[in-house]
Amino acid sequence: MLVELERISCERMESEKFPTICFDFVPLFPVLLLNPNLHIESWCVRTSRQGESMSSKFSHSSTPNPGKLVESLRYLGYDNYHAIPDIVDNSVDADAKNIKVLVRSFHNEPEIIIADDGVGMDEEILDQAIRLGSLVEKDSASDLGRFGMGLCTASLSICRQTSVLTKTQDGALLRAVNDVDEVKRHNSFVSVFEKADDEDKELFQSVLGETQSGTIVILRKCDNLQNKNLSIFSKTLAKHMARIFRYFITAGVNISINGNRLEAIDPLEWEDLRTEHFDDGQIEIKINDDGNTVTDTIRVKLSILPESTEGSAAIAQNLKSQGFYILRNNREIVDAHTLDLFSKHNDFNRFRGEIHFTGTLDKYMGVNFTKRDIALHQSLFDQLSQYLTGQLKTIRSRVRKAQQAETPQDVADVHKSVELEIQRKSKLLMTPKAPKEKRESTERKRNGSREKTEDTNQIREPREKQQQGGFAANCRFETASMGESGAIYEAEQQGRTVIVRWNSDHPFYKRFVLENVLDKKIVAASDFLIYSLACAELMWFTNDETVELIHNLKTVMSANMRTLLS
Ligand SMILES: Nc1ncnc2c1ncn2[C@@H]1O[C@H](COP(=O)(O)OP(=O)(O)O)[C@@H](O)[C@H]1O
Ligand SMILES: [Mg+2]
Repeated sequence: MLVELERISCERMESEKFPTICFDFVPLFPVLLLNPNLHIESWCVRTSRQGESMSSKFSHSSTPNPGKLVESLRYLGYDNYHAIPDIVDNSVDADAKNIKVLVRSFHNEPEIIIADDGVGMDEEILDQAIRLGSLVEKDSASDLGRFGMGLCTASLSICRQTSVLTKTQDGALLRAVNDVDEVKRHNSFVSVFEKADDEDKELFQSVLGETQSGTIVILRKCDNLQNKNLSIFSKTLAKHMARIFRYFITAGVNISINGNRLEAIDPLEWEDLRTEHFDDGQIEIKINDDGNTVTDTIRVKLSILPESTEGSAAIAQNLKSQGFYILRNNREIVDAHTLDLFSKHNDFNRFRGEIHFTGTLDKYMGVNFTKRDIALHQSLFDQLSQYLTGQLKTIRSRVRKAQQAETPQDVADVHKSVELEIQRKSKLLMTPKAPKEKRESTERKRNGSREKTEDTNQIREPREKQQQGGFAANCRFETASMGESGAIYEAEQQGRTVIVRWNSDHPFYKRFVLENVLDKKIVAASDFLIYSLACAELMWFTNDETVELIHNLKTVMSANMRTLLS
């Protein structure tokens, strides 16, 4: 069978428009339809000869198979801690002042309730709300909803039964129920849709009290909970929601989870007087889209956090949480992203940024409907890159400078002799491969094709397993103040030189290096040990995933050594 997609525009490809794409792999079709980057205006399925247009024969009904579709839609890649905020988005859009999330046990089964005192829904809107692809007007510049799919897909990702109780100011309490098992049994998108009974009224009142209007969404048959321990589940959820909705919480929306009011968590720690406000600027974005010029403003906030002692920050200063937090209409959709503008590195642990855009730029930010990921349009990326790359360089070198520490002369002398010893034996050592003439840029094929050169120090190319023979023949020892809770050392490579940077604040450095300077053998042995670890790190931990692995390993090692030596 051959599927023909007509009039596709695709921002990811260099040539902006492909009038028709044909492919003969039918299971791919839903994937393409759900891809926010492809805008498919019409399509047809051809079972006959290739090339013959069927546009005049659109008479056969090919409605989806409800039983199969509903089950597939449960696995779109939502995780619980982002699916619930997607339901809360509707409460925010409904102008709720109070939003309550309850995570509790009902008849020994987990039950999640999202309740709000917003405007509620009348019959017409409720009828749309419980459909996949609701036809409800949205204001892209301010509303959090977008695709008309959030309520259904978010709840489906968690549970098999979703009930909605809702009431407008003058309307009666209405009830609608979607149930996966019923859809499968009838093989049809059936729901309960009726006036609420006394039991519903009691539940509505018990959760929301005497509100004039409001909505409660009840998730039951929760077979997809990421943590069955409801207390841990609600704590994790609270952390995510306090961050995701920080601007709304600060603006006075009262969001509570199991009765505990959320306090906004700001990754940028903007209000902390010790935080450096590195930038709070605006970029006027201009995108030429097939003859139309789209303009909008993106707000950028960059902060350098004050140094934190372990455990004192709401969000730990590490590789995982450094980077850009992306907010759409003031609601965070992505956290700690590099935007492909830098590589994660300990130097950026104290760097956090916010990128604020409005729904007008959805298409160019490449927001998908689980609101969990972005894929930037090339032109938008270029404009952000132009504004941010230089600033990121400055932030990095500022952190570096602040860390610079003196190496006592006697210690420096030992390091020098160790460096010479390593150079002498380099042919016998396993060392990272030396880079080619000029270090290759990291090429990322995203949005068609794009090449990006990164800071040469940062690129860790995959290296062959064993590279005996002194490719990186040189070694240099440096000292930097990275805080007592920082790692014991940092490893970097520059050309043919492996750089080992000792953390002068760590007890390991103090006990093994500083305090033994008279016993050169111990200092040299410590240098050798850390140098060998650094070589292993540079040889093996080469991509984002493994870099995080070594980071975790070093964190545990550094924390345990700190405890044992202090
Ligand atoms: N809590 C709520 N209060 C008022 N209206 C709601 C609520 N939840 C959903 N709706 C209505 O249902 C519609 C569909 O919601 P949803 O499936 O999340 O898609 P979207 O938010 O993208 O429009 C919303 O646009 C809104 O009109
Ligand atoms: Mg929504």
